[in-house]
Amino acid sequence: MPLLVVDRVTKDFGGLRANDQISFQVEKGELVGLIGPNGAGKTTLFHCIAGHHRVTSGRIIFDGEEITHLDAHRIARKGLARTFQVYAATGDLTVLEYVMVGAFMRTRSRKEAELKARKVLEELGLEDWSGKMVAEIPVPAQKLVTMAVAVATDPKMLLLDEVAAGLNPKEVDEVKEKIRHIHWGMGITVMLIEHVMALVMGISQRVIVLDAGRKIAEGSPEEVARDPNVIKAYLGEKYG
Ligand SMILES: Nc1ncnc2c1ncn2[C@@H]1O[C@H](COP(=O)(O)OP(=O)(O)O)[C@@H](O)[C@H]1O
Ligand SMILES: [Mg+2]
Repeated sequence: MPLLVVDRVTKDFGGLRANDQISFQVEKGELVGLIGPNGAGKTTLFHCIAGHHRVTSGRIIFDGEEITHLDAHRIARKGLARTFQVYAATGDLTVLEYVMVGAFMRTRSRKEAELKARKVLEELGLEDWSGKMVAEIPVPAQKLVTMAVAVATDPKMLLLDEVAAGLNPKEVDEVKEKIRHIHWGMGITVMLIEHVMALVMGISQRVIVLDAGRKIAEGSPEEVARDPNVIKAYLGEKYG
């Protein structure tokens, strides 16, 4: 049984069809990449899956249960986590406190949440940041911390939206290593939206390509990279 089934999902914003009959499945334990040009509908699709948008039509099934019309909080509780950008509101939280926000999804005890947050920070090699204010640590570290918050919710599956955007190659390698650890080391199924080809093609077992709201290709990184439709719609501008 697949962990995630996206079945003919369509999302309209007024007259704009941001997602058009998109279908795919993700098996438990997979690491799947989602690529495509700006405006292709990738983030919208994650919002639909995570319950932040109501889909216009179609169905989403997670872990054997239909989640199409559940609200975001219920979906997160079922074990489908996503990262958020660091907002100004996190300015008065330490890294430890911020990661505890994730842990509080599974416990009401402050002590347990702190233990969990410390464990996750250590597991991801971020423990040195624990006492620092989120707003004051470098942006690359903030990105890793947002992943730690999501991991602290104990997800079965993690949706990552452009966590490597704006990072230099060395920082991208670090993100890559952390995602690998979350996937292989912690056994969390991962789906990642990414423009940094060195990252997404390097770690994805399977890649799905969107263009103008439609799924135009799906396959191994090698298959997708030599697909003429993908090269025309997207990779041409990246590799060409
Ligand atoms: N909340 C929204 N309201 C109206 N249009 C939106 C909204 N979110 C996204 N869109 C539009 O939907 C299309 C897909 O956007 P998005 O999912 O952000 O693409 P991607 O993440 O692939 O760059 C774009 O044309 C974008 O302008
Ligand atoms: Mg996006």
